[in-house]
Amino acid sequence: MFFLKKNMWVWVATFLSIGSQSTLAFHKDVYEPRVPKTIIAQEQQVKSPYPVTPERIEAGRKIYFGDGLCVTCHSKDGTGVTLPGHSPRDFTDVKWQKLRTDGELMWVLKNGSPGTGMPVRVGTDIDEEDGWNVIQYIRTFEGK
Ligand code: HEC
Repeated sequence: MFFLKKNMWVWVATFLSIGSQSTLAFHKDVYEPRVPKTIIAQEQQVKSPYPVTPERIEAGRKIYFGDGLCVTCHSKDGTGVTLPGHSPRDFTDVKWQKLRTDGELMWVLKNGSPGTGMPVRVGTDIDEEDGWNVIQYIRTFEGK
């Protein structure tokens, strides 16, 4: 993963161009589910096998600022940088935080958000446990 880190901006730019050119599923409404309708009921039920603890939130923070590369698009404060095409989610948005289950967020980490710059993260740069930890960290932005 050294390669990705060293060429982080090239990599991010590639995803951005894919995101802004693609005409795949593209939801302008940030509150619309990202998980396909056919599987959303089951994905919403998927629960983290790990309890919420300060240690896991801290581990998630390290992923967010490190191997996950989340901070490059979602920014330090979780509000997200402005991107051409479709900007990242504002994690401080209380309404959005309440609408999404952890299972839906895990689906996005495993599948990306088709038609946007949100890349697949779990299974590429981070593993599933890292994914659950970073979801715990994302939850801490709510209402900030
Ligand atoms: C290359 C830029 C980029 C990177 C890197 C990135 N994201 Fe995203 N992310 C996006 C964009 C753009 C969206 C908005 C997608 C949409 O509206 O469907 C998004 C949306 C999301 C969402 C919201 C999905 C929903 O259901 O509304 C979550 C959660 C998320 N990202 C988590 C992460 C995490 C965690 C990482 C790091 C492990 C990460 N992202 C890395 C660009 C990025």
